[in-house]
Formats: sequence, C-alpha cells, structure tokens
Amino acid sequence: MNFSRLPEWTDLKGWRAGLLWFPQSEQALAQHEQDGLLVTGRSADGVVRIVAIGPFATLSAQYPDLPTTPWPGLCIAPGFVDLHIHYPQTDVIGSPADGLLPWLEHYTFPHEKHFSEPAYAHEVTAFFLDELMRHGVTTALCFATAHPESVDVFMMEAQKRRLRMITGKVLQDRHSPDGLRDTDTALSLRQTEDLIDRWHGVDRLGYAITPRFAPTSTPAQLHGAGEIAQQFPDVWIQSHVAENLDEIRWVHELFPQARSYLDVYDRAGLLRQRAVYAHCIYLDETDRQRMVEVGATAAVSPTSNLFLGSGFFDFTAADAAGLRYGLASDVGGGTSFSPFHTMHAAYTVARQSVGSAGLSLAPEHLWWQHTAGAAQALDLAGKVGNLLPGCEADFVLLNPKATPLLARRTAQTETLAEWLFALIVLGDDRLIAHTVVQGEVVPRQAPAVS
Ligand code: GUN
Ligand code: ZN
Repeated sequence: MNFSRLPEWTDLKGWRAGLLWFPQSEQALAQHEQDGLLVTGRSADGVVRIVAIGPFATLSAQYPDLPTTPWPGLCIAPGFVDLHIHYPQTDVIGSPADGLLPWLEHYTFPHEKHFSEPAYAHEVTAFFLDELMRHGVTTALCFATAHPESVDVFMMEAQKRRLRMITGKVLQDRHSPDGLRDTDTALSLRQTEDLIDRWHGVDRLGYAITPRFAPTSTPAQLHGAGEIAQQFPDVWIQSHVAENLDEIRWVHELFPQARSYLDVYDRAGLLRQRAVYAHCIYLDETDRQRMVEVGATAAVSPTSNLFLGSGFFDFTAADAAGLRYGLASDVGGGTSFSPFHTMHAAYTVARQSVGSAGLSLAPEHLWWQHTAGAAQALDLAGKVGNLLPGCEADFVLLNPKATPLLARRTAQTETLAEWLFALIVLGDDRLIAHTVVQGEVVPRQAPAVS
C-alpha cells in the first residue's frame, strides 16, 4: 500500500521488520507481514508520518535509495493508546482498600495534594511519560490533579518528548480535602479556559475538561464545565461513571432528580462526541443508547476494576448496543502500565460474563481496542493507533522472543490469533524492544541497580 510519494516528504526512512496493523482502521481485522517494510517521512507540517507499508519484497523496489534499518526478529506494531490513566497516581499503584471510596479517601486524595508543588509534579511526570513509552504506550488520555500547575508540567514534558497526549485540570469543588478541593468554583472554570487557550492544539497536545466524578463537583461546577465544552467542541471531556455500587448510591442521594448516574453528566452538557467515561460498569440500556446517540465512549479499565473489586464491564451489552469503547490502565487504581496486562485482564473479565458460557474476546479485538479502536474512541482514527499511510509515526518494535517462555510458546503458534494470544497472556514491558515516537527510537535509561 503506497500512500504517496509527494515531493514534500523529507527524511524518508525505511524500517524492515515484521509488521502488524489494521488495514481498515475501523475494524478489528489484523494483518501480519513476516518480512515487511514501513516507510516514514516528515511531512510539510513537520509531523513524521507513515508514508507506505507493505511486503519488503515488493515495496522496497519502489524506494530504491531508501536508507533502511533492518530489525531482524522484531515486529513493528502501532503504539498503544491508553484511554484513561492518572499520572499523579503513579506512586499509588498497589494501595489496597475496601473499594473505591475508601481508596480515594485514604490514599489517592492525600497523595494528589502533593501536586500543588510544581517540582514534585515535574519529577513524577517525567518518570510517568518514560514509563508509558517503555511499555509501548505513545498516546494517553490522562488525568492531572486539581492544580493547574500539574497540567503545565505534564504538557511541557510531553511536548519535549514530541508525544501526542491529552490531559486536563481536575475539577472537584466539594467532598474533597483541603489542598485538593477547588475553593472557588468560578476560578476553577477560568483556570480550565486558560489551560485550553495555553495548550489545546499546541504541537500534538490536547486538552480534556476533567470533572473528577459527579460526587466531587457541585451542580454549578458541572454545568460550568458543560458550558465550556459547548464553547470548545474539539476539546475532550473525561470523567468516571458507574464504577462502584457505593459510589452510585451516593450519586443518587446527591442528584435525586437525575434518572441515572450518567444522566447527571448529560444534564450538565457533558455527554457528547469526544467525551470519554471511565468504567461504565453499571450502565443500563437507556444509558448505553444515550452514549451511542451522542457519540460518547467508554474507557474499559479491567485491572482497576479487578483490583478495587468494582465489578465487570459488560462487553456483550456494550457490543449489542453498539457502544464504542477502548482499553485503559486506570493507573493507579489499575495495577499495571502494560497494555498486555490490560488486554489479558479484559479477556479474563469477559470470560466472567453471566447468562452464558462466558465471552471469549478475540485477540485481534483486544489489540484493536488498545490501538486503532482506542484512537477511534478519541476521534483520532487515522492519526494514531495504526500503521496506515498518513498515520503519525509512533510505533513499537515487539520482540516475541523476549523471554524464554515467550520464545518457546510463540514458536509453536500456527495462526495469527494464537500468536497474538501468546503475546497478550505472556507479555509485559520486556516484549517492547523499542518504542518509536515521531520516527525516532526513544532512548532507554539503564535500569537502576542499587
Ligand atoms: N472516581 C473518582 N476518582 C477516581 C480515581 O481517581 N480513580 C478511579 N478509579 N475512580 C475514581
Ligand atoms: Zn480513573
């Protein structure tokens, strides 16, 4: 497949390796090429994109003078897209609690207070972004904290690494401790507008209006956020919904007039295209239909749901309704940065489906939900999460022999689905031999030894 050989391409480069991608970006049909060629180049706007993809034997003839690096034994695949993650919770991973609300109260809220200090936020951001890339995640929709500085440092570090990232200041003006609570609702909304002006659309950065969840925002803050959303239709919205039964009871007490938890956001104008809601475990049919109608999407966070004991996302009901969803780590409720762990957990959760013998999600489907499907959920199809010509050149080089067991197991697979399954179940950061952002291999830091 040859996108174009337009003269404006500069810095054309060839990458010879195996290839894994989704030829129709809207479908979970994976294609694998044993000996492939990926051509990248810088377009006139300075962004490095994929120019062409195909079998080495045929495509290389069209690019006779292309400087090409061979990556024997490795397979190029799209960079992963994490639909929901909290960078300030990097150091909260693995904090056990009796469910969501005690976890927020005892660990998460106290920890997030530290992010009023820009130097602290800066150190965590740098570690977080490097860790994401080490795990092969090149785009994320990410929560910051209630402190506007926590957004500034994140955006600056993401910009320095030339990443496509989306984040936003958390809005929370009630039921939150001093030091994390927005004490002036009007100010919190002005800060949101200022951050949109400062960062949205700068290089590959995007802004997300970020009410934490209904219980920690007054109706005034939610409606103010909805008004901003109307003013900026191409800005994202991110929040949490229907994650935990105690949380849902609390929402019904706080918003008795709303039909459902989701309806609280709908009434505030926070349900639309580019709105991504984490969890969506306890939606009903009306909620799902409403999300489909407006084009909102769900960020399925299975390692978090298992760790906090929140419940199981209903893949069968979501698919029946045509609800768009993608996979997310939800670190630090989630337990791993690794997309392989998240895909594995999603498979495990679907196997628990009630009313049937359990649902077995296909490995291509799981992989798509964490790459091209997640990109589609973000309205970024054709930009990230795939290797189609025109996509931005963010990808990973997989080493299927990264561990003795991976080498042994993958050598015995006979189909693409079996091979992908082995990678999903046995994979972790060791499977990511290299991460490439904007056509450059990201340098790795040596692991700490003392
Ligand atoms: N609901 C409100 N805040 C949070 C959070 O930080 N993590 C999770 N998993 N759910 C939430
Ligand atoms: Zn979350």
